[in-house]
Amino acid sequence: MDKLVIEGGIRLKGEVVISGAKNAALPILAATLLTDEPCLIKGVPYLRDTNTMLRILRSLGKHAELDKGSVSVIPTKHSNFIADYKLVSTMRASFCVLGPLLGKLKKAKVSLPGGCVIGLRPVDLHLKGLKALGTNIEIEGGYVVANTAGLKGAHIYLGGEFGSSVLATGNVMMAATRAKGKTVIESAACEPEVVDLAEFLIKMGAKIKGHGTPIIEIEGVGALRGAEHKIIPDRIEAGTFILAALITKGDIILKNVCWQHLGALIDKLEEAGAAIKKTDGYIRAHLRRSLRPINLTTLPYPGFPTDMQAQAMALMAITRGISIITEKVYPDRFMHVAELNRMGAHIQREGPHAIVEGVKQLSGAPVMASDLRASASLLLAGLVAKGKTSVLRLYHLERGYENMEEKLQKLGAKIWREKE
Ligand code: EPZ
Repeated sequence: MDKLVIEGGIRLKGEVVISGAKNAALPILAATLLTDEPCLIKGVPYLRDTNTMLRILRSLGKHAELDKGSVSVIPTKHSNFIADYKLVSTMRASFCVLGPLLGKLKKAKVSLPGGCVIGLRPVDLHLKGLKALGTNIEIEGGYVVANTAGLKGAHIYLGGEFGSSVLATGNVMMAATRAKGKTVIESAACEPEVVDLAEFLIKMGAKIKGHGTPIIEIEGVGALRGAEHKIIPDRIEAGTFILAALITKGDIILKNVCWQHLGALIDKLEEAGAAIKKTDGYIRAHLRRSLRPINLTTLPYPGFPTDMQAQAMALMAITRGISIITEKVYPDRFMHVAELNRMGAHIQREGPHAIVEGVKQLSGAPVMASDLRASASLLLAGLVAKGKTSVLRLYHLERGYENMEEKLQKLGAKIWREKE
């Protein structure tokens, strides 16, 4: 296993090109199961997670290859409706093959995705929505076994205890494209990745309205055709590079970025002291003045993204004063707190809150990545810490950041890979 070693203290400067969004690419690849025709998906990042999704598509009877950022998905003669435990258990997003399999084949057997270090991640909303469309669902041997005599449109309230669900909205929306009649999803997720999925489905011939709002309407159609689509830029990767500029007191220009998807983050960072210039497809980030503490609360889109909480905490850890971070999407997503403290941060967790007392300097240390965004947080901390930081369990980072090491090196960071 590899680890990343970072020698902190360098101001990052230069340009970085943001990759396609992992969380848009995964459900869009799953959506190709809805058609018997070839699809071409461009701007797909080369990541451990996208690779897992390609393996799942192959196991379900598609020919799927990623070449120079494009995935061509071509049907084979053999279609399968069983998504295996070994693949699904490694990545929760694979659960969103359930909706397309039901829509296309009227049956599916998909392993339950299992637990996760960022907290409990149930699938009750996915199942509630699919049942409302007329699916029989049983849990057998750790699998969701689902079948339907024919999906029927329905009015579905899909909000949960923590608000809307991104992948449940996607799963139900995909199934509903093939249901008879009209489906209305109320309390639908409004994330840009859901909008991108809807745009792809529309290119395939689906009739969808209201995506990007909490009420999505889908009129079922008889069949979907193949389509070509380009994935939106990854807003979480972009946000991570903006923070890399600020935490190192550097100056970074981001290209292939959609600033319109980063409203809540940009607003908070400007409050903290950032100067963020934005035009179409371009962001420049640097500090306007010395940093001040901020309070932030994660919420479903357009609120502050939970996927940026750990990285924002790294910035607050070196911002003098007290910042309070409240996690409202995954109240247990705080595994990075102990590791940041190992680097000299003063962070105390109180239930869904983290109280961050900014320190003058972090000091490099060996730290353990517990999940994807926690690894990004530790990496950011390492960029500014005194001395060397080693981030262990690098595979978490590789799940969601394409060429992170090379991109940071190009910006001037001293970062390299070593054997653990
Ligand atoms: C997506 O996960 C993202 N993953 C996550 O990104 C992201 O953190 C999350 O949305 C929230 O923005 C992908 O898109 C592949 P949810 P998802 O269902 O859809 C509860 C990353 O780092 N809930 O919107 O699985 C759930 O427990 C990853 O890139 C239920 O109660 O998240 C949470 O509290 C990690 N029942 C809240 O809803 C359900 O059936 C929101 O989760 C489903 C979810």
